[in-house]
Amino acid sequence: MVPEKFEGINMPRHIGIIMDGNGRWASKRGLERSEGHKAGAEVFRRICDYGAEIGIECMTFYAFSTENWRRPPKEVAAIMKLFRSFLKEAEEREKENERKGLRFHLIGEKRGLPADIVKSIETLEEESADKKIMRVNLAINYGGRDEILHSVKELAARVKRGELSPGDITEDDISANLFTAGQPDPDLIIRPSGEYRLSNFMIWQAAYSEFWFSDILWPDFTTDDLDRAILDYAARNRRFGAV
Ligand code: FPP
Repeated sequence: MVPEKFEGINMPRHIGIIMDGNGRWASKRGLERSEGHKAGAEVFRRICDYGAEIGIECMTFYAFSTENWRRPPKEVAAIMKLFRSFLKEAEEREKENERKGLRFHLIGEKRGLPADIVKSIETLEEESADKKIMRVNLAINYGGRDEILHSVKELAARVKRGELSPGDITEDDISANLFTAGQPDPDLIIRPSGEYRLSNFMIWQAAYSEFWFSDILWPDFTTDDLDRAILDYAARNRRFGAV
């Protein structure tokens, strides 16, 4: 049910979030960067649950990019550990997930990810496939250019098999072969931490997205901040190229 504060407004169907600022949050406190990611993972859980409560259809969380492998091995290992503990917890709390109605989906390359993480994500995808309240895309080992390349390769293979003629390729064909196939494009993309860029996040799908930037570091991001972003979004006039 849509809460009273959002009644009558134009709610975004799909919100994408670039969870940035964990490292700076930790440094400011004299903590290891991994502590920032840990705090960020807690905020991810809270915002994810809240999105479902207020009636968002789909949320995509940018958790690990194809470029993040360049970080120190210790930091990469700490982030992988957070994924493992979230996935284990999701397995153990099936009943709770049932009530929350979250359907999980990995967007990103499975190749390159630790095999146990891929297996746990696949299990979570299968077990949550019938959940209807909100779809949660976990962007892990994700890169927007990589995703487009993946789609183009699929289409090239269909051309080679004689199933598709190059002149007939449409934008919908490209969309249909992205990790987000069948989902609405993000209406709103949120990036905290004072950075003003997409960093290879949903670059195809974001063609007409509205952006909401803020200086808040991700571990400090609250449900009130999400409310603010949604209300700002609702007040905007989306023209999709028309007048
Ligand atoms: C960017 O902040 C953050 C990441 C690369 C990792 C994000 C991962 C999480 C929040 C954990 C998610 C967990 C689950 C279970 C999905 P940064 O390190 O670039 O911050 P900085 O710019 O301040 O250094």
